[in-house]
Amino acid sequence: MRAAAAAGARSFRLWSAAASNGAEACTILIVLEQVLGRGFGGRTVELLGTDVNEQVLAAARTACFRPYALAQTPPDVVRTWFRPVAGDRFEFDRRLLQCATFRQHNLLAPMTAPAFDFVFLHNVLLYFDAASKERALGHVHRALRPGGMLTVGESEHLLGVAHRFTYVRPSWFQKPAVASCGAAGAE
Ligand SMILES: C[S@@+](CC[C@H](N)C(=O)[O-])C[C@H]1O[C@@H](n2cnc3c(N)ncnc32)[C@H](O)[C@@H]1O
Repeated sequence: MRAAAAAGARSFRLWSAAASNGAEACTILIVLEQVLGRGFGGRTVELLGTDVNEQVLAAARTACFRPYALAQTPPDVVRTWFRPVAGDRFEFDRRLLQCATFRQHNLLAPMTAPAFDFVFLHNVLLYFDAASKERALGHVHRALRPGGMLTVGESEHLLGVAHRFTYVRPSWFQKPAVASCGAAGAE
């Protein structure tokens, strides 16, 4: 994102594709503000969080976390982007949260939304069989703009799975800027 901003990008469309309770979305927005500066340095940021489970999405929309969920979070990050609220919870910064929307979506179905610049597909492919991984990756590929980036979880890989991404570095893949023919199974 730093590189994209340096290249002049004025807006970012981000997709947290297995968003669960929204913790990942909060982390993405915090890191983006750390990298780009307060208010993302004047850039427009839209984050879509999706999950198949409507219950976790309800939690994501409130973005209130119990103390144990923030136990590994640096204290200065907690001080800056969270505030204690009733019920022994910490509420995520509403200014940043307004960049995020959450809706139900099954990764095995096509995504209908304007193209994304970045897709975060963390810790969900590991639950899928090979055919489902390929199906989900095909939908994610179509949802990205050419040149857009996909990141998967650290313990995940795409080895042996047919896909159309270019391997960039561990956990990072790119949709080629120019469409390529055929599917590549290599990482
Ligand atoms: C382990 S959590 C990952 C949360 C987050 N991405 C992270 O890395 O912290 C996996 C999430 O994937 C969601 N999930 C499982 N199957 C899915 C599917 N077919 N489509 C969308 N989400 C799915 C689950 O509901 C769960 O919230």
